[in-house]
Amino acid sequence: MDKFIIEGGERLKGRVRISGSKNAALPLIAATILQKGSYAIGNVPRLRDVETMIRLLAMLGGKAEWTGDNTLAIDTGSLDNHVAPYEIVKEMRASVLVLGSLAGGLKKATVSYPGGCAIGERPINLHLQGLAALGCDIKIREGYVDVNAKKLRGGRVTFDTVTVGGTENIMMAAALAKGETVIENAAREPEVVDLARMLKRMGARIEGEGSEVVRIRGVEALAPCDYEVIPDRIEAGTFIVACGITRGNIVVENCNPLHLKAVIEKMKEAGMEIEESDSTVKAIMSRKRPISVDAKTIPHPGFPTDMQAQIMALMSVSKGVSAITETIFENRMMHVAELRRMGADIRVIGNTAIVKGVERLSGAKVMATDLRASASLIIAGLAAYGSTEVSRIYHIDRGYEKIEEKLKGLGAKIRRKKDEDLGA
Ligand code: UD1
Repeated sequence: MDKFIIEGGERLKGRVRISGSKNAALPLIAATILQKGSYAIGNVPRLRDVETMIRLLAMLGGKAEWTGDNTLAIDTGSLDNHVAPYEIVKEMRASVLVLGSLAGGLKKATVSYPGGCAIGERPINLHLQGLAALGCDIKIREGYVDVNAKKLRGGRVTFDTVTVGGTENIMMAAALAKGETVIENAAREPEVVDLARMLKRMGARIEGEGSEVVRIRGVEALAPCDYEVIPDRIEAGTFIVACGITRGNIVVENCNPLHLKAVIEKMKEAGMEIEESDSTVKAIMSRKRPISVDAKTIPHPGFPTDMQAQIMALMSVSKGVSAITETIFENRMMHVAELRRMGADIRVIGNTAIVKGVERLSGAKVMATDLRASASLIIAGLAAYGSTEVSRIYHIDRGYEKIEEKLKGLGAKIRRKKDEDLGA
């Protein structure tokens, strides 16, 4: 297993280019199942999760190949299998995103029931309730969800919790259902809006994406299209926070500042100067120590749960005391114990972490437990005194494209140590 070795203390400076969004790309790839044909999707990040989705598509009878650095040519002309097996779903929960498109496209889906993961239980009850409201017959047997969508029709779906994946699955199934579907308490995340945009380009009739109520009028058939994935707002936010902790000065290119409002506001409160243009964010911390701020994770447009671990790393060296509350996932504080090993002063009460900023963290051997926790440990390592070794970085490879190259480009001292080097 690879590790990152980070020598802390370098201020980040320069320009960094943000990749396409992982969480947008995954449902967009799944959407190609809805309509047989050829698609070209651009700005797709080359990540382990994307490769897993490509493998799943191949298992279903589709084909996908890279035709440029970040362009994926997809052919679903002969896609005819409706089974997403355990082996793939256990590797990546987002595999459940084929539920909606298989139900819409093939009128049946058999998908391994996902288990919990490091950050929480993450049930899929709302996805299933939604599909049932659209006339699907659902059975759970031998660890699989069996969806019979022969009678797929529009319906009213009211989510009692905002769910990104659930909203996406229902939008996809509803695109090819008979009649109108109304999703209430829909997720408003930019990735949901991106999926709606691609579906509309394919001929779907969708209104209200990005608001709490999304209306989809089903059509008889869709048409394949070419599409460009939006920039990854979480990657952009991670670099902005990394700049903050190293008291640096960077320009984040190819991002959408409108998707980053909550993070930008928080960083301004923490003392960062920020200048935005259409597609760049200039983040200026200029040797200043960050100020402690409170943060609470809330579905978009609130502060994203996927940035909680990173802001906590920043708060661990900020001036003052901050309270960070996680409201989306029940077990998303695994990074706390690792940050403490680096000298952070953090106490967890219920779902709130009380972070008392220390002058400096010290390098240590730490272990990544999930994707965003890994990002927080790297951020902490960048500012720590001495050397930090982050192990189990396969988590980071799931979601950050070329992170060490990008950080090196900004002046960080970080290198990847391959497993075989470790004994040497
Ligand atoms: C997506 C993102 C993930 C992000 C999360 C919240 C992808 C691939 N992943 O995950 O990075 O952290 O949104 O912004 O886009 N829930 C239920 N029942 C359900 C579905 C969800 O109770 O059927 C709960 C979950 O346990 C969680 C909350 O709803 O507490 C939000 O989850 P959801 O928005 O569905 O997250 P994902 O789509 O899995």
